[in-house]
Amino acid sequence: MVLENLDNYTNHMAAMRERLEMGIKSTFPWIKVNGHPETRLPNTSSISFRGVEANTIISECTSVAVSAGAACHADRVDVSAVLQAMHIPLEYAMGTIRFSVGRYTSSEDIDQAVDVIRAVVKRLQPTFDKQDSPSNNDKVRLTQFTHGLGCACKLQPDLLEQVLMKIPRPDDERILVGVENSDDAAVFRINENTALVQTVDFFTPIVDDPYQFGAISAANSLSDIYAMGAVPLFALSIVAFPSSRLPISVMHEIMRGAYDKAAEAGIAIIGGHSVDDTEPKFGLAVTGTIHPDRIITNAGACSGDILLLTKPIGTGILTTALKQGLLNNAEIESLVRSMSTLNRDASAAMLIAGAHACTDVTGFGLLGHLLSMMKASNTSANINVDAVPVLGRAYELATGGILPGGTKNNLSFTSKQTSYSNNIPLTMKYLLNDAQTSGGLLISLPEENKMPFINELAKHDQVAAVIGSVLPRQENLIMVGS
Ligand code: CO
Ligand code: CO
Ligand code: CO
Repeated sequence: MVLENLDNYTNHMAAMRERLEMGIKSTFPWIKVNGHPETRLPNTSSISFRGVEANTIISECTSVAVSAGAACHADRVDVSAVLQAMHIPLEYAMGTIRFSVGRYTSSEDIDQAVDVIRAVVKRLQPTFDKQDSPSNNDKVRLTQFTHGLGCACKLQPDLLEQVLMKIPRPDDERILVGVENSDDAAVFRINENTALVQTVDFFTPIVDDPYQFGAISAANSLSDIYAMGAVPLFALSIVAFPSSRLPISVMHEIMRGAYDKAAEAGIAIIGGHSVDDTEPKFGLAVTGTIHPDRIITNAGACSGDILLLTKPIGTGILTTALKQGLLNNAEIESLVRSMSTLNRDASAAMLIAGAHACTDVTGFGLLGHLLSMMKASNTSANINVDAVPVLGRAYELATGGILPGGTKNNLSFTSKQTSYSNNIPLTMKYLLNDAQTSGGLLISLPEENKMPFINELAKHDQVAAVIGSVLPRQENLIMVGS
């Protein structure tokens, strides 16, 4: 009786596997089904797709039980000895995936899975004629070629902290700003009048338009230079590009957007490095200079200062909504305008107004970057939520559950040292921790210098909001009220 049951299960699973393989084969007759036709396990199917990387397929097949067959451990990308022994050609081996069926897998489950796999593989398949038809350019939605989103795909802050703790601190007195305060850029003294300021930033597409992505990425990379009160000199580009998934004209557009934005900042991109990758990524390494006595770090905030923010928050939530097709054209336009605005004028204004401390607001969110500033300055901050500017429908979308993973990580990270008054809704907590891309400057300056700062910014049609104040250090680094 028991044996008979087992046989039934075995036959059922083999039939389901057969249905899966036939379903995929009907669209892609060129796939390779690996293993011995009779002796292989009844519940697994190892299928090789030509010219498509397994991890990319897996990251897009969210509703199907799959694992990478290219390596024994999914996080390795070399080809396993087993597949080599089976003489699978390399162009197939990197696209080998193991599918599993269970005792209770139904025909409907299989048909659904086949539909998902078909759509994903069709989209990812190298169609080399793409490169000759720039008209395809119009249809490319860049955010569909990435698993994460912009700064939202930053490593979790506590993971980064763990690693940095174990890296030996360099001992060189010419290093004026190093890793110790998680500041924006590194500063290195050349002589008594000049220090070099260097920073690097790159990320996956946060908007669909390649030109806009390039421009935003460049503005974001330059931002760390401006946050130190430095002047940029030149930049190098960092490019990862899936040449088998996208026409090369897309890369050209990304570069053009970055070159134009760099030109607006008065600098040139004079080289760089590019690699073929499964997802597009772009950014700049920017070099600037500053007088060693005039560096504005995140460590100079003083009790009694006011805190100013020069761009609204919510870009992480809004770019997530954009990826899901939830924004209209006007909303996309205002989002792109905010992210591609240089922090140059805000930086110039803070120098005129004698800022004590500054940081730009990016992947760790407003509170994450404020936390670093308060830690480095040995002070605490009071934030008035009602004064914090929010972009577009970010609040409404967050209420509806549109939240990037990075935003959730940020909230749990900052919560340890933040107190919220009882009337602050959870949505607002998410917003304050929303992972930003190319956000504004967060500036700490003496209250009497507020008007000189705001007046200077107004000359460039920009605004700043006073969002809180700096207090002597207390138990919590941040107190959020309304
Ligand atoms: Co920064
Ligand atoms: Co940065
Ligand atoms: Co700084």
